[in-house]
Amino acid sequence: MSEKGYRGIIQKYKKLLPVTDKTPVITLNEGNTPLIYAGYLSKLAGKNIEVYLKYEGLNPTGSFKDRGMTLAISKACEEKSTAVMCASTGNTSASSAAYAARAGIKCIVLIPSGAIALGKLSQALIHGAKVLAIKGNFDAALDLAKEITRRYPIKLVNSLNPYRIEGQKTASFEICDYLGEAPDFQVMPVGNAGNITAYWKGYKEYKALGLSGKLPVMLGFQAKGAAPIVRNKPVKDPQTLATAIRIGNPASWKTAIEARDESKGLIDLVSDAEILQAYKILAVKEGVFAEPASAASIAGLLKLIKKGYFKNKKCRIACILTGHGLKDPERAIKSVKPPKLIRANFKSIIKEIGY
Ligand code: F0G
Repeated sequence: MSEKGYRGIIQKYKKLLPVTDKTPVITLNEGNTPLIYAGYLSKLAGKNIEVYLKYEGLNPTGSFKDRGMTLAISKACEEKSTAVMCASTGNTSASSAAYAARAGIKCIVLIPSGAIALGKLSQALIHGAKVLAIKGNFDAALDLAKEITRRYPIKLVNSLNPYRIEGQKTASFEICDYLGEAPDFQVMPVGNAGNITAYWKGYKEYKALGLSGKLPVMLGFQAKGAAPIVRNKPVKDPQTLATAIRIGNPASWKTAIEARDESKGLIDLVSDAEILQAYKILAVKEGVFAEPASAASIAGLLKLIKKGYFKNKKCRIACILTGHGLKDPERAIKSVKPPKLIRANFKSIIKEIGY
């Protein structure tokens, strides 16, 4: 096989990851996602402000989970595991199913019944995972996955698995590599809180190595009906249309708070209406299609702009778009008018388009 070209985050950042030459690398060439300059949002934010979109929806299975999953599955193979398990609001299940398929090991996923987006469900199923829909929410599914993997020789590949965090931290390396140093602010959605933990770890490591002169201020956003960290207590029955972050008791709660406090940032909430508005702005004004949970980043950015948080600042802001819009086609269709049905002739079309 050719040694040339990009072959995923383990190959690219192996010196900064817990791997050796003996680690089998299970990769789909994840990572290396674009950091897209957002012209409309930059203008909205202010004169000296640059807003960038880290489009993680362009990973192989359409979400940031692939960064952590390549490492978690590679290490599971190194440790001779033959089965992995996760609880998921959808993206983790899609990613674990794909990487387990590639590794030739068994994958079992627990999903909250009726509460994951169609694209994600189709991925987990087509990759051949054993998909079990439980009559309960994500938090209940995660508790069960933890107990089962404690008692049976099955590897847990939720972000409680430290290799998931290690892999995901490479996204902050990429942002620093692209900008030449860390951004001044990072805006991101917070669900189970693994990703904010991973980014913060990555930024700190890059700074310690002298590869970034500074650290960003971390700005996390939860959905209003699923905002345990903001409210400082678990939410029993979390609700939001951003199903990916419909989580009431985040596993990485403590480290998310550390990221917030060490960076002098904040974790706030945005309503479903604000998420939907941001989702559409992103698609219509920037040409970027991200799933609703990802749009929580932009909803948060808009909220902070409105509050004057960035006023008179000269800064660069990185917004993390965690998953592709095609993950949840039903939400997109519900958010717009259906196409107009017209006769198949020249005149009807010209009339409709107003020429
Ligand atoms: N955005 C998307 C698209 C997600 O799928 C998730 C989490 C998050 C944001 C939040 O990231 O949990 O690290 O704070 N999805 C998990 C899953 C829970 O099962 O796919 P987090």
